[in-house]
Amino acid sequence: MKLLTVVGARPQFIKAAVVSRAIAGANEARQGLPTLEEVIVHTGQHYDDDMSEVFFRDLEVPRPAYNLGVGSGSHGRQTGRMLEAIEPVIERERPDCLLVYGDTNSTLAGTLAASKVRVPVAHVEAGLRSFNRDMPEEINRVVVDHLATHLFCPTEGAVKNLSCEGIVQGVHRVGDVMYDSLLYNLERAKSRADILSRLGLQPGSYALATIHRAETTRDATELRRLVSCLGAVGLPVIVPLHPRTKRALDLDDARLDLGEVRLIPPVSYHEMLTLEQHARLVVTDSGGVQKEAFLLRVPCVTLRNETEWWETVEAGWNRLAGTEPAAVAKEITASLDQTPSTPGSPYGVGRAGEAIVEVLLKESGSGRVRPEHGSEGTRKTRTQPVLP
Ligand code: UD1
Ligand code: UDP
Repeated sequence: MKLLTVVGARPQFIKAAVVSRAIAGANEARQGLPTLEEVIVHTGQHYDDDMSEVFFRDLEVPRPAYNLGVGSGSHGRQTGRMLEAIEPVIERERPDCLLVYGDTNSTLAGTLAASKVRVPVAHVEAGLRSFNRDMPEEINRVVVDHLATHLFCPTEGAVKNLSCEGIVQGVHRVGDVMYDSLLYNLERAKSRADILSRLGLQPGSYALATIHRAETTRDATELRRLVSCLGAVGLPVIVPLHPRTKRALDLDDARLDLGEVRLIPPVSYHEMLTLEQHARLVVTDSGGVQKEAFLLRVPCVTLRNETEWWETVEAGWNRLAGTEPAAVAKEITASLDQTPSTPGSPYGVGRAGEAIVEVLLKESGSGRVRPEHGSEGTRKTRTQPVLP
């Protein structure tokens, strides 16, 4: 069975590394039996060395067979250019299934391109919802889930969200691939522990912050107020800066009051795990980072009003603060004062990659991955939708 994996943004390289490793493991164990062939396509959505190449190097993700070099642009332009570039790759490779991750424009473009030529789509991180359609990612999630044939959900809540939208077939609760990734890489991250000494940090004595969402960076004045408020939390605050945020902040502006905030370039995944693990507090608008904070049991303040990862909030480890500086400062203080309890394990057991590969192999063995030309194949049957 041939899989065409489409990735393009930083967190997708991390997630794809998990499944690629599981594919290699399954192939090795299946001597003489049908195996999975994976062809990786990088759309080029992220292209700076520290947003892309570093992850392929450190995480040993197989080299992409194609880099479409799409780059940055408005949503329509970026997605349109990806669609145009992915279609001929599908025609050439004739995959049995196209595999996508998360909720980026690369996820959307891969899904649309495959669906139009009747190649089944497998979506990892299916069913997540923020119920906020101002987020471009929410639009991507909804469209992708309604087109996908195989929906790999990280949580029980994600399965329920899909069911509420009438999607009940092809749904698998497999756990969260980022939990697999964290477990696999924590030990390996020790080789990058020197990031603490390089930054002059003692474990437990600093906060770590990331900001990159379109909603948080859209208004430069608001963004600067937010960053200034982080500079007053009473701890050094390390901020690996996403290029979008760097551009929006206008670092040449002398009025930017950074206080104890230290802006650094984006770091590698292993360095990031080290910084997260030893932080006193995490402040972020990232989906992946708030979840990693939870998994590492580091209190987190999320710079949003809602989250797709609500288990982290319910367990007491994550506080939703929005982006208003006074509210952020209040939640930071509350977070530093509190010791949350030990929660269960809502994100699985760290074997999501293997579970995904097992489903794909089973489906390919039953001949159900690629629908017959002109037939309905494995299209999902839908119950009457009950929209939220
Ligand atoms: C994208 C995803 C977001 C994900 C994030 C992960 C969409 C709609 N958003 O957001 O869900 O959380 O990736 O990091 O797909 N830029 C560079 N160099 C790069 C990449 C980007 O300079 O290598 C700059 C460009 O100015 C670009 C801006 O960052 O316009 C935003 O990049 P883009 O990929 O459009 O969105 P992200 O904010 O990265
Ligand atoms: N990350 C990283 N280096 C950084 C910032 C983040 O390796 O400088 C990792 C982080 O540990 C997590 C993932 O990137 O695994 C999250 O990506 P991001 O915040 O860009 O996107 P989101 O998860 O919000 O889609």
